[in-house]
Amino acid sequence: MSEQTLSNLLKEDRRFEPPADLAEHANLTAEAYERADADYEAFWAEQAGRLSWETPFERVLDWDDAPFAKWFVGGRINAAYNCVDRHVEAGHGDRVALHFVGEPVDDTRDLTYAQLKDEVSQAANALTALGVETGDRVAIYMPMIPEAVVTMLACARIGAPHTVVFGGFSSDALATRVVDCEAKVIVTADGGYRRGAPSALKPAVDAAREKASSNGHDVSKVLVVQRTGQDLEAWDDDVDVWWHDAVGSASTEHACEFFDAEHPLFVMYTSGTTGKPKGILHTTGGYLTGSAYTHWAVFDLKPETDVYWCTADIGWITGHSYITYGPMANGATQVLYEGTPDSPERGRWWDIIEKYGVTLFYTAPTAIRSFMKQGREIPDERDLSSLRLLGSVGEPINPEAYVWYRHVIGADKTPVVDTWWQTETGSIMISPLPGVTHGKPGSAMIPIPGISAEVVDDDGNPVPDGSGGLLVLTKPWPSMLRTIYKDDERYVDTYWSRFRQQGYYFAGDGAKKDTDGDLWVLGRVDDVMNVSGHRLSTTEIESALVSHPKVAEAAVVGAQDEDTGQAVCAFVILRDEAGDGGKDIVEDLRNHVRTQIGPIAKPRQVMIVAELPKTRSGKIMRRLLKDVAENREVGDVTTLADSSVMDLISKGSKASSDE
Ligand code: WTA
Repeated sequence: MSEQTLSNLLKEDRRFEPPADLAEHANLTAEAYERADADYEAFWAEQAGRLSWETPFERVLDWDDAPFAKWFVGGRINAAYNCVDRHVEAGHGDRVALHFVGEPVDDTRDLTYAQLKDEVSQAANALTALGVETGDRVAIYMPMIPEAVVTMLACARIGAPHTVVFGGFSSDALATRVVDCEAKVIVTADGGYRRGAPSALKPAVDAAREKASSNGHDVSKVLVVQRTGQDLEAWDDDVDVWWHDAVGSASTEHACEFFDAEHPLFVMYTSGTTGKPKGILHTTGGYLTGSAYTHWAVFDLKPETDVYWCTADIGWITGHSYITYGPMANGATQVLYEGTPDSPERGRWWDIIEKYGVTLFYTAPTAIRSFMKQGREIPDERDLSSLRLLGSVGEPINPEAYVWYRHVIGADKTPVVDTWWQTETGSIMISPLPGVTHGKPGSAMIPIPGISAEVVDDDGNPVPDGSGGLLVLTKPWPSMLRTIYKDDERYVDTYWSRFRQQGYYFAGDGAKKDTDGDLWVLGRVDDVMNVSGHRLSTTEIESALVSHPKVAEAAVVGAQDEDTGQAVCAFVILRDEAGDGGKDIVEDLRNHVRTQIGPIAKPRQVMIVAELPKTRSGKIMRRLLKDVAENREVGDVTTLADSSVMDLISKGSKASSDE
């Protein structure tokens, strides 16, 4: 982000006080900061104490082997028991856990905690019958339907780590992840509903299974939910099993086993600076403590009265921590919505809020910006008065989007919590506390109680208020990633080598401390892009482009984009034998990335170039390409193909002023 933008941000002087009644009854109050500061291990022990442990832990933190942490040493716990059974045992079996809303209008289903307990037990029994044992990995590739949550919890229940792969990813992306974590079983559906039509999933699983086999890994079973009833291209009787047969016929009785606090709970793949996605490993006790505590504290959850809704997909970490684990560990009632915001028409989200009386709402800035563009008439036609708190996650929220969100959606009475965290942190690290902090549009404010963050210079020294640097976390925290799956070395290199001396966790984000000491997260400082709140690595997309037979070399940058935050811009050198690539080359390449990775990675623009700017050591200077990408309009591929990128960069400012 440029200095210009920074100084704009720092001039923001709008402030919003916490509502008096929220402050008065807030789950967490100002004294928590002091208490956590005084003894952070004791503070975390207290948060872990809100969960049910079969065997209490003996030691809060073992950091002797840093950066490999063990939290709640000696404790034994089951995540699914905490998310389901204990609420039923406490007499809340009749409470709705999920208000499922399918994309087709009127396709709804409510599941109480008691029903959920039965379904999770059945699924756990079915997975065991399919040969899944404690420690085996299960891949989940599903639409946003209750069975997805049920499967995650069933895996947790039997101690089989899951890896959820976003249903929008391609079969290649699925295959890479299935192979990396050696998933024994894949759970999927025939399809899901997207934009008013059934969208197939099973064929991608078939293709991924084939690719995995040719890479030496055989998936033994595929469990398939019948969601859309669409025709399946293929069915392998030795492998494919219908959910309604296997789960439907299983017993609702399942005695759950308890696992060590450090038993792996899941692997979530996320983009890093090299091509291969990183399998972020989270374990049970610490992760559940972090997600449950933050959901209770930051959203001020009152499980008896609140209706919570997080619009993320379970294929991302936000869906793990703030749909499945955090809210359910807290016994929340929540909405689970399958589809897109504008199906069948643009008021769909607001209809859902009105119908279910949603009180706590959590979404991403990219969605807020698209609603702003459509105009306030659409939400204004609905009754949104049930809302009492709004949350934002995934990328920096522009002050204007924050104010619009608060004003139009929140009727100027709801606090907005801008929550900064990552797949790696497992749960929210920096955020206002809604009953304590006054809101400042665009700032995530300060670390929540229990978390210690700093903004430091290149040498690891804290920067003074009013200046910028790199965001670090200075102490370990329970929901921290434990490693990168099967790659301890990459774990240490990526997160702990930059500030090894100080022992800080390097988040990869730039940040600014304003003159009050509040934090403004500015975005990635490495080669990771943030498109609509989703992390994509430049190298991953470059590799996809280079896998096209006509491509010799590719460089990808994230350019500022009004709608998606950043957009993928690719610079491509064609092979000599490809000539000019033909008239459809740009579209071909965009679609190639789409099939290789998925629709979210499809470049906004592809420019065919003769050269890429490189340093003498051969490193592509993406910074220069980014200047080009941010100054030029799409379209004149022919001009670009004829001139070198360096020429273009020098003409870049002229070109944009001509427009
Ligand atoms: C960015 C998503 C500014 C940041 C939970 C981070 C944010 C990356 C915010 C992690 C926020 C997330 N303000 N930037 N409130 N929340 N980010 O792993 O760059 O998909 O490093 O986790 O998103 O993305 P991830």
